[in-house]
Amino acid sequence: MIIIVLIILQYIFFTAIIGILGYLAFILISFRNVVPYVPSPRRIIRQMLEIAEVKDNERIVDLGSGTGRIIIPAAKKYRNNLIIGIDKSFFLRLITKFRLLFHPFINKRIQVLNQDFFNADISSYDVIFCFLTPEALRQLTPKFKLLKQESRIISYMFPLEDSQGFREVIQHISAKDSIYYYLKI
Ligand SMILES: C[S@@+](CC[C@H](N)C(=O)[O-])C[C@H]1O[C@@H](n2cnc3c(N)ncnc32)[C@H](O)[C@@H]1O
Repeated sequence: MIIIVLIILQYIFFTAIIGILGYLAFILISFRNVVPYVPSPRRIIRQMLEIAEVKDNERIVDLGSGTGRIIIPAAKKYRNNLIIGIDKSFFLRLITKFRLLFHPFINKRIQVLNQDFFNADISSYDVIFCFLTPEALRQLTPKFKLLKQESRIISYMFPLEDSQGFREVIQHISAKDSIYYYLKI
């Protein structure tokens, strides 16, 4: 009996190790892309959701939604909104879908799209969350300029180089953490 328990524990241990190593390898490899996968800290996500001041029925998107760290708490906080996550990584979308299994009451209001956000039409969104890179924000700026009045962009870590047409508010969370809020005027 003890032997069987030990074999099962060993199996669980090695599966967990392989999972963790695979996840770390994925993060390292993603650094070859314009935008690597780096999860936002939870306290930052709480702040981002607070700052956004989302109203009922506004359309929300996370550009590069990763494992759903922003869209899941957003759907919990904003109960009358459709929340979209866009991510081109199959692996990260799969993790998001798996996590959604544990949130049956919100998963109908979340959609995770397999898209390249550089090619996506984002003009109809009211609130755009992003944790990207300066280069990605530069490439997305022409799309941001097409947003409707009163739309908000909430960017963790990096500002827009060209924020003409937006009112900018910077919230410094710590020496190295800032959230940039842009209101389309
Ligand atoms: C820094 S992570 C942020 C993840 C998540 N938003 C968070 O805050 O935890 C950036 C995400 O963007 C995704 N990504 C990078 N380039 C992309 C592209 N061109 N189109 C769609 N997703 C992209 C990556 O797969 C990654 O999940």
